[in-house]
Order: sequence, then C-alpha cells, then structure tokens
Amino acid sequence: MRSSITAAAAVLLLAACQLRGSDAGGNEPFFTSIFSFGNSYTDTGNFVRLAAPVIPVIPFNNPPYGETFFGRPTGRASNGRIVLDFIAEAFGLPLVPPSLDKTQNFSSGSNFAVVGATALDLSYFLERNITSVPPFNTSLSVQIGWFEQLKPSLCNATGVDDSCLDKSLFVLGEFGGNDYIFLLAANKTVQQTKTYVPAVVKAIAAGVERLIKLGAKRIVVPGNLPAGCTPIMLTLYASPNKSDYDRYGCLDKFNGLARYHNSLLRREVQAVRSKYPGIKISTADYYHPVVEFLQQPSKFGFNGATALAACCGGGGRYNYNATAACGLPGATACADPTKAVNWDGIHLTESAYADIAAAWLRGPWAQPPILSLAR
Ligand SMILES: *[C@@H]1O[C@H](CO)[C@@H](O)[C@H](O)[C@H]1NC(C)=O
Ligand SMILES: *[C@@H]1O[C@H](CO)[C@@H](O)[C@H](O)[C@H]1NC(C)=O
Ligand SMILES: *[C@@H]1O[C@H](CO)[C@@H](O)[C@H](O)[C@H]1NC(C)=O
Ligand SMILES: *[C@@H]1O[C@H](CO)[C@@H](O)[C@H](O)[C@H]1NC(C)=O
Ligand SMILES: *[C@@H]1O[C@H](CO)[C@@H](O)[C@H](O)[C@H]1NC(C)=O
Ligand SMILES: *[C@@H]1O[C@H](CO)[C@@H](O)[C@H](O)[C@H]1NC(C)=O
Ligand SMILES: *[C@@H]1O[C@H](CO)[C@@H](O)[C@H](O)[C@H]1NC(C)=O
Repeated sequence: MRSSITAAAAVLLLAACQLRGSDAGGNEPFFTSIFSFGNSYTDTGNFVRLAAPVIPVIPFNNPPYGETFFGRPTGRASNGRIVLDFIAEAFGLPLVPPSLDKTQNFSSGSNFAVVGATALDLSYFLERNITSVPPFNTSLSVQIGWFEQLKPSLCNATGVDDSCLDKSLFVLGEFGGNDYIFLLAANKTVQQTKTYVPAVVKAIAAGVERLIKLGAKRIVVPGNLPAGCTPIMLTLYASPNKSDYDRYGCLDKFNGLARYHNSLLRREVQAVRSKYPGIKISTADYYHPVVEFLQQPSKFGFNGATALAACCGGGGRYNYNATAACGLPGATACADPTKAVNWDGIHLTESAYADIAAAWLRGPWAQPPILSLAR
C-alpha cells in the first residue's frame, strides 16, 4: 500500500547505517542536536503554549490532531509527525522539543517554530497599517533571539567558543508563506503581494547569516509550498473562471507567487554560500513533492479522487470550512489519513510529510540532500 514510503525508509535506514559506519567513533550518528525555526509546518508545540492564555479554543490542541502517531494532540498541525520529526529520526535524535516547554532538556536540540510566524517582523506590518497579522510577536528574528538566549546554556557560557554547534543541524523554515497569506488577507492583490517577496527573502537570508555568526555550520532552508493547491485557498479564492486553475486543479496565481519566492530564495541562499564557503547550506523543496503527489497520487499511495481535499474538515468541495475547521465542532477526519495529502486544509498529513522528508534527506528535493551535510 505505502510501498514507496517503506522503500524510502529502507534506503534511509541504510544511509543512516552508512553514516554511523563512516563516523570516526564508529557508533555515533553525526549530528548531536537540531535547532529549528519556522511556522506551523515546523511547530512541535510552541503555539499551543503561547496562545493558551489568550485564545480560548486552539484547534491544534484538540483531537483528531495527532491521532495517527501520537494518539493525542501535541501542538503539531498534522495527524502525526511532521518533516522535522522524520529528519530527527533519520539522525537517531529525539523529536525536537518545543522551546517553550521549559520541562525539557535542550541539549539535543530545541524547536523555536510557532504557528503563524512570519519572516518579516510584526513591526514591519504594523508600520504599513497591515493589521491582518496576528499580534503574536514570533517572527524569524524573534525566534533567533530565543536561540541566542538559549545558547550559553548549550555552549561555554563565555560565548567565545562556538565549536559546540559544529555538529548541530539548523532548519530555518519554511518562512514566507504566512507573510503572503496575511498580505492577501489585507486585500492586497497577488501582484501587490509579489512586491514584498524581495523583502521576505532578504529577511530569511539575514536569518541564515545571523545563525552562521552564532556558530551554525550546517543549515537547511526550505522554500514555500504550492499555496494554490491548498483547500483553504481553493475555498477562499474560488474562481468561476476555469483558466485560473492549472491542470491539477490548483489556483495558478498563488502557485506563481510561491515559485517566485522560491526562485529568489535560492538566489539569496547561493549568495550566502559564496560569502561563507565553509558553511554547508541545503535548500529544501516543499513545492515539487506536493505537485508530484497531485500528478501521480497512486504512485505515492494517495487517493487521487480526494487529493485536493482536506482529510479533516467541516465539508464543502475541498472539505474546508473556517467555522468548522479541523479540531472544532462540526469537523471530522477521513477514515484513512494515510491516503490523504492534505490534513486540515492548510497542513499536510504525516504520510505526505514522510515522503517529503525522505526526498529531502536522500534527494531529489533538497540540494544538496540533507544526509550529505552529515560529514
Ligand atoms: C541534559 O541532558 C544531557 C545529556 O543527557 C546531560 O548531559 C545534561 O546534564 C542535561 N542537562 C540538564 C540541565 O539536565
Ligand atoms: C517583538 O519582540 C522583540 C524582541 O523581544 C522586540 O524587540 C520587538 O519590539 C517586539 N515587537 C513588537 C511589535 O512588539
Ligand atoms: C496608517 O494609518 C494611520 C491612521 O489611519 C495614518 O495616519 C498613516 O498615514 C498610515 N500609514 C501608512 C504607511 O499608510
Ligand atoms: C570557557 O572558555 C574559556 C575560554 O576559552 C575557558 O577559560 C573556560 O575554562 C571555559 N569554561 C567552560 C565551563 O568550559
Ligand atoms: C477586504 O475586502 C473585504 C471585501 O470587500 C472587506 O469585507 C474587508 O473588510 C477588507 N479587509 C481589509 C483588511 O481591508
Ligand atoms: C479568465 O481568465 C483569463 C486569464 O486570466 C482572462 O484572459 C479571461 O478574460 C477571464 N475570463 C473571464 C470571463 O473573466
Ligand atoms: C460551515 O460550518 C458552519 C458551522 O458548522 C455551518 O453553519 C455552515 O453552513 C458551513 N458552511 C458551508 C459552506 O458548508
């Protein structure tokens, strides 16, 4: 049924063994910790902790979130593990704990990602009277500030010696998707939204440089997903004009925005690579694997008839209804989430994330593949 995943897992296992074999110590996987930053595609439990005092009902805190792997909601915006979890597993590390869970020991890593986080600072939006951004101050630069505060407890407290991060993997993103969603929600057109892409991409590249200055040696920078293929966008921006849709049924202009972001991001990351030749940076692609799932759903074990619909939702053509969103009354989950690409209208299922993680670790959808950073 999910032979592609099983095969990918076998390959990963093999690669992980080779990795261990090639390590000088013989028995230790290469990376000793993972530090990650991002939004709801990466959050493993920060938003639910941050928002609990101010938001009465947080959908991600309710079943059926987490039902497939954890058997309970964990604050992840999926039915199970996300890409970051599969990366941690591939390196034999614990699932990266949310930084706001102060009961945790962060010596093997910490995840600073928060649902809703933007690449640009909250002040950037407010200064431009863009008030569609939620008032949580969790942008990329704020998250890196949290890492900076944690660092002395990980390294020599004098802060002089950065070698403690030599075998840490940094995952920065995805960022930018929310910046564009909030600009569109402020009634900017896609054309107007495109004018913000250079600023967003520069903020991400500045984040990469700041991490390098803090001691990061190996960094993964994921790009944006094809927003035009998500049930939420297909519902909110439904068009009577067939030519607004591509041949897979996605809204082309939102995908065009994501492609533009991804191409500028690759260019900016290349500039950072040239500036810091000793640092290994991988650009990871969320866009093409999702398009592949829609092109050839059965190849990946997905049900093609429902590939554009959310597994968990409150009905409608794409099974997305904001007032009956997944985790709220009125929403139900599909019987077999392993056959669905999309979980809740915005985020993907554990099955989709597993396939994406495999394609990032081994290739072809990360350049260079993440496993190759482990030396
Ligand atoms: C965290 O875990 C590491 C490794 O298990 C251990 O060496 C360290 O003492 C722990 N730190 C705290 C503060 O418990
Ligand atoms: C967000 O937090 C940062 C770091 O704590 C602070 O410098 C900034 O002023 C805050 N921004 C807003 C809009 O509250
Ligand atoms: C933002 O709104 C305020 C109050 O309506 C106005 O005075 C200001 O000029 C606006 N700023 C921008 C950048 O549009
Ligand atoms: C931290 O580094 C300084 C300078 O390299 C060194 O003198 C000191 O012993 C180190 N402290 C610890 C706890 O490793
Ligand atoms: C956007 O446009 C809609 C429809 O015209 C309107 O109801 C809404 O208030 C506008 N939102 C903003 C933030 O301007
Ligand atoms: C449909 O969209 C196409 C391409 O954007 C445009 O050329 C055409 O005029 C639109 N048709 C209608 C009926 O709006
Ligand atoms: C969305 O869900 C609400 C609450 O269950 C319901 O009242 C409404 O009719 C639904 N809308 C659509 C378009 O199905």
